[in-house]
Parts: sequence; structure tokens; C-alpha cells
Amino acid sequence: MKLSVVILSLASLVFAASLRTFEQQPLPAAQSGFDLDLNALRLIQLEGRAPEWVTEGRKIELKALGFKFFDITENQDLGNGIQSPTRVKSSFPSPNATEKVTPILKTLSTQGPKENLEKFTSFRTRYYRSDTGRASQKWLLSKISEITNGTASASLQKLITFREFRHSWGQNSIIVRIQGSSTSDDAVVIIGAHQDSTNLWPFLPAPGADDDGSGSVTILEAYRALLAADYRPVRTLEFHWYSAEGGLLGSQAVAQDYAANSVNVIAMSQFDMTAWVKRGTREEAGIIIDYVDPDLTKFNMELVDLYMDIPFVQTQCGYACSDHASWRKAGYPSTFTIESSFENSNKNIHSANDRIDISDEFSFEHMLEFSKLAVAFAVELGGYTD
Ligand code: BES
Ligand code: ZN
Repeated sequence: MKLSVVILSLASLVFAASLRTFEQQPLPAAQSGFDLDLNALRLIQLEGRAPEWVTEGRKIELKALGFKFFDITENQDLGNGIQSPTRVKSSFPSPNATEKVTPILKTLSTQGPKENLEKFTSFRTRYYRSDTGRASQKWLLSKISEITNGTASASLQKLITFREFRHSWGQNSIIVRIQGSSTSDDAVVIIGAHQDSTNLWPFLPAPGADDDGSGSVTILEAYRALLAADYRPVRTLEFHWYSAEGGLLGSQAVAQDYAANSVNVIAMSQFDMTAWVKRGTREEAGIIIDYVDPDLTKFNMELVDLYMDIPFVQTQCGYACSDHASWRKAGYPSTFTIESSFENSNKNIHSANDRIDISDEFSFEHMLEFSKLAVAFAVELGGYTD
């Protein structure tokens, strides 16, 4: 037998044994403040394998063992319409709206992101099936409402709607929409982040400062600056804060809903982890090049060159690692930018140490660079109405 086969067989034996041990152990009683039944059945899909039913408990353990998968329990048809002949793929011309974008970039600040992230990380966990995860979502919704009412002019406010996209678990996704002025172009541009956090063991504290509190406040600051500039898009622009990124549940549900309603999403940009600059490394933006749309990603690189004050580095997750993958699965072009190369990213995520004050490697200045990218993405693809 070849050595690799022996190693593989051994690994799967150890894996099977560890799962068996896990199954034989009595599962802990339901914890108060969580609506998480460890015996509930979930349908998961590992890369290149047929979907399989597992318990929530086993799902958590598989994740801890490093397995990567979609939880497709509630979205089993996502992607089936991918070859839809009616969907015309867009091309992305080089960015050229510097006169409109640059003045807005100058108004971005670290103040809002600091205050908002301090509050957002004060919830014990933002786990999607926890009471505090629900409370953090309600807080985010009220913050969006406050920013909209306090920043947008009365006429701009008429173009804006925000809503909760309801899920069967406790925490809802949030969708903010700025209606485009065009009557002929039905295209929609989406900027997203996930609002939930998790510890590897979901009942433990998960401040989620970087993952993905950082992305959540990064795009909120971009939204605030666009409203302050009285920005009116030609195409409809949306900001999404997804629930339940673990298993990509929230974004799959939203993407499935959009696909079912034939919403013409021409571009989706995900911001997940934007704060960390590893000591001793060059400050840069990581552009993910796997599980993304190559044309939109090339366009995203051009945006970094033109509008961010740091260079980009191409990098890979190696798996469908964030919500952009749900949009891709639904057949829509998506792109994903992170704080650094995948290797140099924050290793405190999914633990109680994912905190703002854990290290001076956590940088609000770095985060601000990503708000620039979000503003540029919005204006360059959304167009603007004078
Ligand atoms: N933000 C992480 C993914 C990530 C980690 C990106 C490190 C860049 C660097 C994301 O929230 C996450 O936890 N993803 C899951 C997989 C997903 C399918 C739920 C993961 O990495 O285990
Ligand atoms: Zn994340």
C-alpha cells in the first residue's frame, strides 16, 4: 500500500473514532440563552461530496476538526438555476469616477467604527441561535436607523428602506436598500458582511471583534459617508449584514430569495475581517481569488490600486470561506477582500480572544482603508445621479 493511502486510512480511522466517542457521550442539556438543540438534524455538504445528514453536535465537532462545509438544510435548491439562460453576465469597465469618489473618502472616520465596535463586541456572543445574538442584531438595526435618520437628507431618506430578512433561528439578516434613479436598469449592487460571531464551542464567549465585527462596522461607516455626501445611485445599492455565517445559512437564504425572484444582482462584495495587521508584516489588503468571480475580482483589484492607500496581495482561503460563496453558488458575481494574506490573518478568531484590545495589531486605521474600498465599489458600480 502506498504511504499516502496508509496515512489517509489512519486519519479516517482516527476521525471516525473521535466522532464515535463524541456520539457516545451524553450531550449537555440545553443551555439557557441559546436555542440550540445539539440533537437536531442538519444537512451539510462538504466540498466534492454528496450532502449528508448530521446532528448539530456533530456539525460543531466537524467544524472544530477543520472540515469546511455549507449547511444546506434550508436551501437545498440554491444554485440549481445557475445556468439560467436569462441571466446575462455583466462586464466591469475600469473604474473612472474618481472625482465623485475621492471627496467622499476624505470624510471617512475611525470614530464611528470605534464606538460601534466597542458596543458590538460587548455582547457576550453574537451567535445566531443565542439571545445575545438576537439582541446584537436589534442593536445594529437601531444603529442603522439612527445613522439613516441623522445623516440622510429628507429627500434621500425617501429612497432608503431597511428591513429584517427573517430566518427560522433567532437572529435575522439586515438589508438596507438605496433605490437607484434608473428606470431602465434593474441591476443591484450589494456590499456585505456577517454580523454574527461564534466561538468554536458556541456556548462560550465570542466577542468577534475582527470576525466579523470589523467588516460589519467597516461597511456601516461606508454607508454613513455615502449618506453624508447625499449620494444617489443610478443602480440600486444594498448593504447586507448576514446572520448565521457559520454554514453560510443567512447569506444562502438571502441569495436563494433573490435568485427565486430573479433579482438582477450584478456584483456582490464581501467584507469579512478587516482590522488585523500582523506584527512585522507589510500592511496590505488580501484579495481572495478562489470561489469568486474572476472579472469582478480583477475590477476589485483596480479599485484597491486607485482608492486604497495600501497595496493588495492575491490570496486564497482554499474553501468557500465566507458569504460571497453563497452568492457565487446562486450564480451571481461576487468578490471578497480581507485584512491581509490568508496566512497573516488574525488567529484569535472563533475564540474569546477575538477582541479589540488583544494587541496593537488590531487597527482601526487599517479598517478605514476597507471603508474606502466599500465606498469606491458602491459609486463605481452604482453610478451616481447629480
Ligand atoms: N471569517 C471566517 C473565514 C476566514 C478565516 C477568512 C480566516 C479569512 C481568514 C469566516 O467567518 C468563517 O469562520 N468561515 C468558516 C467556514 C464557513 C463555511 C462557515 C471557517 O473558516 O471555518
Ligand atoms: Zn468571518
